[in-house]
Amino acid sequence: MNETAIELARRLNQPLNIGGKQLAGRLFLAPMAKLSNPALRGLILSYGGCGLLFSGMCSARSVRHGAGNNIHGFMWTPEELEFLVCQIFGNDPRMMAEAAVQVEARGFFGVDINFGCSAKVICRQQCGAEVLKDPVLAESIVRAVRKAVRIPLFVKFRTGWKDDSEYAVSLARRFEDAGADALTFHPRTAPDRRTRPPRWEHIARVKQAVSIPVSGNGDVFSPEDCLRMLTQTGCDAVSLGRIAAAKPWIFAQWTGLRDFGPEIYLQCACRLLERLAHHFGPDTALRRFHKFSGYFSANFTYGHHLHALMSRCRSVAETEQALNDFFKTGPEIVSAPCFSRLF
Ligand SMILES: Cc1cc2nc3c(=O)[nH]c(=O)nc-3n(C[C@H](O)[C@H](O)[C@H](O)COP(=O)(O)O)c2cc1C
Repeated sequence: MNETAIELARRLNQPLNIGGKQLAGRLFLAPMAKLSNPALRGLILSYGGCGLLFSGMCSARSVRHGAGNNIHGFMWTPEELEFLVCQIFGNDPRMMAEAAVQVEARGFFGVDINFGCSAKVICRQQCGAEVLKDPVLAESIVRAVRKAVRIPLFVKFRTGWKDDSEYAVSLARRFEDAGADALTFHPRTAPDRRTRPPRWEHIARVKQAVSIPVSGNGDVFSPEDCLRMLTQTGCDAVSLGRIAAAKPWIFAQWTGLRDFGPEIYLQCACRLLERLAHHFGPDTALRRFHKFSGYFSANFTYGHHLHALMSRCRSVAETEQALNDFFKTGPEIVSAPCFSRLF
């Protein structure tokens, strides 16, 4: 291990207390709709090193009925519950509180409020990042959820709708004041769909403004990035999004649990495919795998061929065969995946 790897593992393996519960590590899986599903999460857990897993966003409207262990992303397995935070979105404090009660009753580690999603379909419903336009409403949602549950309460948010770190700081203080136990902060404005680099200096300002743990998020793709984010911002933890979908073993690698050879790529893709088929059945498994392959393919020089190949497969067996054929060609692995190349 080089010096960066040793120092990074040392920092990431420090325990962290959130809302009275102790975590063994400080590297988290960020919430990603359709991607942070039980199959990917289970695979990540099997490699180890991930301190906390976040589900993709679930609608409070459906979660509050406690509806099934299957719809709208509200899914889990018993093994992951003690490390799993369920993310909910909505704009009605009472509905959000009722959803959080269901999350607590299922035994999740914690509940996370989504004030970060800027997708049109969510903002049009006045949810996600749209709520940040109304800080009083945002605060009352956090307060209502806090009153309803005792499990750790997280809030994930962006800078706001303008690039104003003062605004982000005032939001962070409101959330802490309303009873949040930890924040995940993605320092981009809502209209910025990852076109410009995130402003990590805003993470430093948010961290300084509150006394609860802050997890930094945005464009951490390498061990050097991760160490730099921890050092430059002082954040307590780091949440990984796209790179975790591209390399689900990254948590084990960066925390120094073990190293992986090039054979991990094929093994990992096949294991994920099997897990998806197990949790979702063949049709949904193929759709979920195709979403995953968009990020996984970024690991290879000619990854767009792999991604296109995956979209033509009509069954799990065909997908497995196509993966094996692709890896027989000895694809060149890039040193740093570039996600904008594929999307
Ligand atoms: C496919 C995809 C789905 C996402 N879904 C969610 C979501 O459900 N809730 C959320 O708060 N953020 C969501 N995000 C944002 C990520 O959590 C994260 O903030 C973003 O990808 C930046 O982190 P990264 O640079 O490590 O990828 C999603 C991102 C991606 C790529």
